[in-house]
Amino acid sequence: MSTIGVVGAGQMGHGIAHVMLRAGHRVILLDVSQNLIEAGAKRIAKGLARDVEKERLTEEQRRQAVANLKTTTNSAGLGEALYIIEAVTEKSDVKVKVFHSLEPHCPPETIFASNTSSISITRLAAATHRPDKFVGMHFFNPVPVMKLVEVVPGLQTAPETVDKAIALATSAGKTPVRVNDFTGFVSNRVLMPMINEAVFCLMEGVADAAGIDNVMKLGMNHPMGPLELADLIGLDVCLDIMKVLYESLRDPKYRPCPLLEKMVSAGWLGQKTGRGFYEYPRE
Ligand SMILES: NC(=O)c1ccc[n+]([C@@H]2O[C@H](COP(=O)([O-])OP(=O)(O)OC[C@H]3O[C@@H](n4cnc5c(N)ncnc54)[C@H](O)[C@@H]3O)[C@@H](O)[C@H]2O)c1
Repeated sequence: MSTIGVVGAGQMGHGIAHVMLRAGHRVILLDVSQNLIEAGAKRIAKGLARDVEKERLTEEQRRQAVANLKTTTNSAGLGEALYIIEAVTEKSDVKVKVFHSLEPHCPPETIFASNTSSISITRLAAATHRPDKFVGMHFFNPVPVMKLVEVVPGLQTAPETVDKAIALATSAGKTPVRVNDFTGFVSNRVLMPMINEAVFCLMEGVADAAGIDNVMKLGMNHPMGPLELADLIGLDVCLDIMKVLYESLRDPKYRPCPLLEKMVSAGWLGQKTGRGFYEYPRE
């Protein structure tokens, strides 16, 4: 059993904390305000209760997991963690500030991991004094359900750090896949251009939205069509990732579809705004 620091109690951070607690680790959860921490802790408690209902945990294990969660709003509170997984807002300067604030409180052997979807692990590692102990651990949403973790070494990451990240992901019941540090890793490098191409198909009138999604579901056995999936992820998030791919790989094949840009300008961001490629009436 290890002590894991999780920074950010949002969508991903609370999920990462949940799976680490479920696996028997101790977790210290950090966010910027007590309210956000309480909201995260509440979601974790709900998730653990659901694990008991689904017979993934016994009541005694749930009680122990709840007792193993500590929270803090102060970087010093993460000093005893062996691993720190950062899951804060997807902005490079915010992430670098987090690692700088942690460094004075953490012994040199503490491993820093980032759950970033698109920022270079090599660049984040270089901003710390422990680039060899820095690694990407890219979890998927919803974390308690999705099996995959992309484990991403930066150029400077030591092989032992990669081994430890793989062992940690495995201990939490995940299947780690080692992927090198290129923008989008494998997941978004393959998924986002597929979604973008589906939007081109819609814009050019190859088929309507339901037609495009049905082809991919019925012909390729995808559980969701690319446009439904874009609505779930958020069209703004998809556009941001396409822009990062386009700018950093400098290849026109990643050009964001003009219809995607137009829909984001209109505020049609998918499920979260009630309208994307489909409509989601408010209850
Ligand atoms: N949402 C997804 O589907 C998904 C999937 C894989 C990876 N990611 C990545 O995970 C990270 C988090 O995404 P999310 O969807 O959980 O975002 P989110 O907005 O739900 O949560 C981010 C949390 O970080 C906190 N935070 C911001 N600055 C902080 C600071 N200085 N110190 C401590 N906490 C701080 C915020 O208060 C918020 O609670 C991002 O890097 C994102 O790219 C997201």
